[in-house]
Amino acid sequence: MCGIVGYVGREDCIALLLKGLERLEYRGYDSAGVAVIEDGGISLRKAKGRLANLQEEIGVNPLKGFTGIGHTRWATHGEPSFINAHPHVDIHGRLAIVHNGIIENYFSLRKSLEQKGIRFASQTDTEVIAQLLGFYYDGDMLTTLYRVLPMLEGSFALGVLDAACPDKLYCTRKGNPLIVGQGETGSFIASDIPAILEYTRDIYFMDDYDIAVLSRDTIRFYDEMGNELRKESTHIDWDMEAAEKDGYAHFMLKEIHQQPKVIQDTLNHYVNMETMEIRRETMPFSPEQAKALTKVTLLGCGTAYHAGLVGKSLLENLAKIRTTADVASEYRYREPLIDKDEAFIVISQSGETADTIAAMRLAKANGNRVVALCNVIGSTIAREADTVMYTLAGPEIAVASTKAYVAQLLLFELIALDTAHQRGYLSDEQMKEALQALARLPEKADAVIQAKEKIQYFASQSSNCKSVFFIGRLLDYYLAMEAALKLKEVSYIHSESYAAGELKHGTIALIEEGTLVVAMATQHKVLGKLISNIEEVRVRGAKVIAVAANPPQMLSESVAILEIPEAPDAMAPLLAIIPMQLFAYYMALQKGCDIDKPRNLAKSVTVE
Ligand code: M6R
Repeated sequence: MCGIVGYVGREDCIALLLKGLERLEYRGYDSAGVAVIEDGGISLRKAKGRLANLQEEIGVNPLKGFTGIGHTRWATHGEPSFINAHPHVDIHGRLAIVHNGIIENYFSLRKSLEQKGIRFASQTDTEVIAQLLGFYYDGDMLTTLYRVLPMLEGSFALGVLDAACPDKLYCTRKGNPLIVGQGETGSFIASDIPAILEYTRDIYFMDDYDIAVLSRDTIRFYDEMGNELRKESTHIDWDMEAAEKDGYAHFMLKEIHQQPKVIQDTLNHYVNMETMEIRRETMPFSPEQAKALTKVTLLGCGTAYHAGLVGKSLLENLAKIRTTADVASEYRYREPLIDKDEAFIVISQSGETADTIAAMRLAKANGNRVVALCNVIGSTIAREADTVMYTLAGPEIAVASTKAYVAQLLLFELIALDTAHQRGYLSDEQMKEALQALARLPEKADAVIQAKEKIQYFASQSSNCKSVFFIGRLLDYYLAMEAALKLKEVSYIHSESYAAGELKHGTIALIEEGTLVVAMATQHKVLGKLISNIEEVRVRGAKVIAVAANPPQMLSESVAILEIPEAPDAMAPLLAIIPMQLFAYYMALQKGCDIDKPRNLAKSVTVE
């Protein structure tokens, strides 16, 4: 979604702001802008569309300043346009703000300001904040913020410039991420770490209602009552290279290729690879808690939800615990019945997904324990959950999640195995065998990636298809859901997923000569049934590709096969999703899509 960067210091900040915004491009946006304090006033430059347009505008109309803010906007209120792009200023042009989030009561605030004679320039909710700050400005931005913030309903991360204080930059947040850091030449704010990592590795995570006042060499934090706060910084140990493409054409392709390493790194962290034992201290449930578990609810959105569906099957089948997986955006509003001893696992790559945060808070408010599977250190979910298990995927930049999903699946494998072991459903011997099977996955994942030419060939054969059906049974059905999401996200090709047994209850009516059907065929228990379902669509003209390990002869003779290495059924999803990620990638590539930043999508969905 939107991105914020800001700087106050000794350097001319335009290049710093533009570079920071570039690093946030992956979040998704449709306009961009910067503001600086120049000659005692606010200077603004904005442009619709890509950052290159803003750079061009600045090239034609240069500006200079040592205190500034920048923004990439993903439109919510008001179309993507020059006028609606941030920063926004008050009517006197005394202050400028950038804002991530949504002001829910903006309409009534706007009406009351209009009655006081304030004329608005844009259709955005954000401008209401700028005008309120301007209207109530008392000569001190800090006290003005204290006056205005309680009027705002909704969510915000804000960066504020006050032309009367050219050496200061203000920021605050409620419900949207914001970080602050001290570099060598000045102080920074940003909505996300990559924007400022080049300048500092020691990051302060702002909490809701904190206000920070930054100047060249100092950063002061205040709570909502105006008390000064002491905050600890967190050291970030990944570097910018992790956020670079490393010679790959796209981040998505790089991140797909990183998956064998992600699996290995995650295993090394959670499993003692010499003794082949789980490091118990890294697991979310103690032996007593594991034995006492009666119900687990898994919550997430999009790909994270799909990982949750696989997790649900694993926890039920291996650990024999009643488990449900739910979409966080539905769960939070459907007045769920929560058992007192129900455990929750929330899944989120970014740790900032608004719906997942709300669902997590609902469970916590009910007094239930929440475990988070999260990829971003210091994110809201990581900080608010009772226990965090980090997916060690490193920064995921492409909007379409790949390596974080595989890491989430792996964590579910480990949690389910460990819980099953603690509950007595797996012997020590079986546990070791399972961990040994997991230890073979990095090599096997690498073998899948090495076979990418074949996948690219299949994609080239399917380039004209208008829609694709992904089918599967059991875990393969959940994989089919993820495969369909990946394809539609990056290639904009209509795709659907179905439980293969459901086809004949309606969907099979859509199958005609040449329809592309991709069958996930890794679950041995139901392979025979799936083959029958494949036949049902094949005889009706469908072109079928099957993803399978050691496919039986009758399958390989009738349909095209994408072969993956053999793995136990429970672990097959970690391998079988990789060809589907590559398939989506190559389909998008030949259509010339903007693969890393698909239209209308944002990397972290911080509004509901
Ligand atoms: O950051 P999160 O894991 O909470 O994000 C959840 C979804 O928004 C995310 O998985 C989305 O579906 C991705 N674009 C999938 O590729």
